[in-house]
Amino acid sequence: MQRLRIGLIGWGTMGAAFGELVQDGPLPISLAAIAVRDPARARAIPMPDGVDVVRPDEALDVDVVVELAGGVEGPLTWARATLERGTPYVTANKALLATHGGELAGLARTNGAALLASASVGGGTPMIEMTTHLAATGRIERLRGAVNATTTYILSAMGEGRSYDEALAAAQAAGYAEADPSLDVDGRDAAQKLAILASVAWGRWRPEADVSTTGIVGLEVQPGETVRLVADATPDRLRVAPIPVDPEDPLARVTGVENLLEITMRDGSIFRVSGPGAGGPACVTAVYADVARLVAGERPILFRSAS
Ligand code: HSE
Repeated sequence: MQRLRIGLIGWGTMGAAFGELVQDGPLPISLAAIAVRDPARARAIPMPDGVDVVRPDEALDVDVVVELAGGVEGPLTWARATLERGTPYVTANKALLATHGGELAGLARTNGAALLASASVGGGTPMIEMTTHLAATGRIERLRGAVNATTTYILSAMGEGRSYDEALAAAQAAGYAEADPSLDVDGRDAAQKLAILASVAWGRWRPEADVSTTGIVGLEVQPGETVRLVADATPDRLRVAPIPVDPEDPLARVTGVENLLEITMRDGSIFRVSGPGAGGPACVTAVYADVARLVAGERPILFRSAS
């Protein structure tokens, strides 16, 4: 079988972990190029020998583009250029998808390209896949979950009597928080993830702007109280907010890096999926699984309808 040539954009913790997996994992794929915004700058994480290091716009002439760089402006340009060539685009970039996912899904469809982003929600946990599976019948009634590890960590620690600042510092030290942790504590990381899940669940792309979002800054949690940043959606209402949860609620048992998604169907049946929602090694598992689908000849597009 011919090896798929990967153009990898981004060489941070995730990019490097994915690069290692490409070299050591079982799929017939190889790194054709590593792209970074400034190829001349030395990297904290050593790069493999023998792979070209280029600018992102020079890494698109490959079989698959994998973007793990973050940000919106650059990735939007690279995603458009990739999909217009009919080349698959795999990313973990939730901000990109929650702002321009409809347009990108449309471009993918028009050009026969694939668009995949398993790692954008739930880290390594296949939340998009379970939602896609259950959406096939058109009978999802509600999505509800804890999809941001940083706020789960902070709210758990505050329930154990620690201050907000202490808890945030610990979550950052644990490596859960975004580079800009305001995205976590303002609820935007969870809102972007919920917008992506809702788009998959109900077949129409929904932007982050459709989510009513309340973060956890300034929130008081009494010792012994269990509060979670709950992402909750029906077709008519998308909401992220800190909510006190009953100790028997599965969301109350979510701690640390774990994410949990609960999907309720119209017939009342409930499905749950949980697992590590943050951290490089978990997330690159999902990116690698997306690439495995391309190796198998699939050409999936994350969102069924662009609008
Ligand atoms: N900052 C995110 C979180 C990481 O805390 O869940 C993964 O999206």
